[in-house]
Amino acid sequence: MMNDNPTILAIESSCDDTAVAVMRNHKVVSNIIATQKVHESYGGVIPEMASRAHMQHIVPTVTLALKEGGCDLKDIDAVAYTQAPGLMGSLLVGASFAKSFAQSLDIPSIPVHHLQAHILAHFIEEPKPNFPFLCLTVSGGHTQLVLSESPLSMKVIGTTIDDAAGEAFDKIAKMLGFPYPGGPYVDQYAKDGNPKAFQFPISRVPGYDFSFSGIKTAVMYFLKENVGKDPDFIEKNKEDICASVQYTIVKTLLDQLSKVQKEYQVKHVGIAGGVSANSGLRETFEKWGQKAGCQTYIPAFEYCTDNAAMIAITAYYKYLEQDFGTLETVPQAKSPIPSNHG
Ligand code: KG4
Ligand code: ZN
Repeated sequence: MMNDNPTILAIESSCDDTAVAVMRNHKVVSNIIATQKVHESYGGVIPEMASRAHMQHIVPTVTLALKEGGCDLKDIDAVAYTQAPGLMGSLLVGASFAKSFAQSLDIPSIPVHHLQAHILAHFIEEPKPNFPFLCLTVSGGHTQLVLSESPLSMKVIGTTIDDAAGEAFDKIAKMLGFPYPGGPYVDQYAKDGNPKAFQFPISRVPGYDFSFSGIKTAVMYFLKENVGKDPDFIEKNKEDICASVQYTIVKTLLDQLSKVQKEYQVKHVGIAGGVSANSGLRETFEKWGQKAGCQTYIPAFEYCTDNAAMIAITAYYKYLEQDFGTLETVPQAKSPIPSNHG
């Protein structure tokens, strides 16, 4: 029977973290993340290792999330999972588990789009944005400007034509010798650096799209040249390099965001995805919002990077519309954000 206040078990396994959350009556009652440390020393996620780690983590993480949420199996109304996009092996572990679990409990399973979930992370807690809502999603794999008219109706306005913003952070961090993922290290060192110390190019793409391959290449040549002259160049200038890189990436993002906001005259604007944890982006975004006369929204820190609470809130909206998956629903490595509901 349809329940207006459903209890949803949600599973996120699109990349290298196994995350499980329980949402009851629109409230997150548990939100667990089992992080995979195995990839750090490789400088990136190794897909085969990620799938194997998901297989080890999924049962204990689900068990812990149910326990922390004080949730019996009979309380669960639906099981949600990330269906796309992501690493196929990783997605398969979460999807197969969720569908079998739902089938065994005789309740619906709900497939969720990862990028839609990053945006709907804004609707987990108060204050929630009003619609129309413009969101800049910046993660390790994606950089998108998305306009939402309602929770399940979204339109992509701009996207990256090459690397994602998080990818740029991580690849440059790797050049500087930081472990994977290096974005948070760049953020940390940037706090003590001068953002104008070095100048890197800001890629200007026609329309509302983004490009980050230019800054990556520029930093690579810049480091090659300077390390050639002084082998300790990186060590001596880490803070200034990080601050200058971060300044350039943040400016690239905000220039396009600002263009779209002006064009569509949206008054409620947010940032989402792992890179929205970046302190430079958060600060610049809030200042920009004040100047532009917009309400700005940044999700709580734990809802910025990959988590299952965002899968649960998306599933909650889908549950209310009885928009369920079937046993035949399969994961997809690549898939555009669902543009229009119904
Ligand atoms: O959304 P997310 O957790 O996973 C994907 O769906 O990709 O985003 C991960 C990305 C990584 O590239 C990571 O370096 C970046 O978010 N990131 C940051 C910060 N925290 C996470 N980048 C810059 N500054 C941060 N503080
Ligand atoms: Zn993500």
